[in-house]
Amino acid sequence: MPALRAVAVRYQAVPGAGPKKAPIMLVGEQPGDQEDLAGEAFVGPAGKLLDRVFEAAQLERRTIYLTNAVKHFKWEPRGKRRLHKTPAQREVEACHYWLEKELAAVKPKVIVALGATALKSVLRDGKAKLGDMLGKAIEHEGRWVVTVYHPSYILRVPDEETRHQAFNVMVEGLKLAQQLLERQPEEPAAQGGS
Ligand code: URA
Repeated sequence: MPALRAVAVRYQAVPGAGPKKAPIMLVGEQPGDQEDLAGEAFVGPAGKLLDRVFEAAQLERRTIYLTNAVKHFKWEPRGKRRLHKTPAQREVEACHYWLEKELAAVKPKVIVALGATALKSVLRDGKAKLGDMLGKAIEHEGRWVVTVYHPSYILRVPDEETRHQAFNVMVEGLKLAQQLLERQPEEPAAQGGS
């Protein structure tokens, strides 16, 4: 008989939230344990870290639309805990439909991608590399996209100096996002054709 495998149970989809016409949309990876229980994005440890970044960047959380690339918490059991598992690219792609809906409704001027999964989802490019984009702004489909670390990365970094640097990358990224609200991205190039 085949060995029984533990099945990862998800409880609920966690929707994005924020002002209907927020000028900045932050995209994370997926809800965590606490977000899954609360049904709300960024209410756990990563959200608390994000609050410190908002404060340092002088940005008010209530003005931002917060969402995730993947809407369910993916986890595996580890004793009594539910341990986060990185979503597969096919899961990111499957959830992209919902992110597109949010983008179409909110129409943010600037998207801030938090970490690699968010970046891949926002650019619809499974090969996009976080290291190439960190702290930078690019134009994508008529919007600005700024990429910073995911707050959970900062929570995991063991040494103080790297943690401090990563925190600053996030703060500077959010300051840049605010500056870009004053700048119009180039219109997408007109498609050729006869
Ligand atoms: N990490 C995320 O990417 N999103 C959340 O909502 C919480 C933790």
